[in-house]
Amino acid sequence: MSKPLLIGLGLLALLGTAAAQTNPAQIVQERRDGLRAVGAHMEAMAAIARAGSDPRPAAERVAAVQAFFVNFPDRFPAGTARGTAGLDTRALPEIWTDRANFERVAAALGPRLEALNTAAQSGDARAFAAAVQATGAACGDCHRPFRAR
Ligand code: HEC
Repeated sequence: MSKPLLIGLGLLALLGTAAAQTNPAQIVQERRDGLRAVGAHMEAMAAIARAGSDPRPAAERVAAVQAFFVNFPDRFPAGTARGTAGLDTRALPEIWTDRANFERVAAALGPRLEALNTAAQSGDARAFAAAVQATGAACGDCHRPFRAR
């Protein structure tokens, strides 16, 4: 490929990324799709915990959830709150008016997920069940103040 063509394609790719990042509807869709997947992972892990079965296969699910929550607050840029015309989102305005608290509860999930990962890999069903519960509590700590019902 010629050099100018390559540069042109590179610019197009950059523009595409910028557009994707600034399109509120797409940002909302991606965060909701991701959170729905997180919810499915958590439900599957809760079922393993209830059954008291070997939690080791769940480690992959924990890793997927951990990957999704990296820089989680960045998924909530200004202009993507509930009540914005054209957006289907339950993100409450408090996410932006009480940002420090939102970031605090987002950060608090990290250690819970690390503990969940450790518990899954340990193969200890009771430790896993306790870690699933603690993780679920951390999800709720954010949903109560920041997600509309
Ligand atoms: C720091 C805040 C925060 C944390 C932590 C958090 N969530 Fe959420 N969650 C939200 C917000 C805000 C929404 C609404 C997003 C929207 O509608 O745009 C949401 C939405 C959801 C949804 C609904 C997705 C949909 O639209 O169908 C599910 C399921 C979900 N979260 C699961 C979880 C689980 C499971 C955890 C814990 C492992 C978790 N969340 C942790 C803030 C959080």
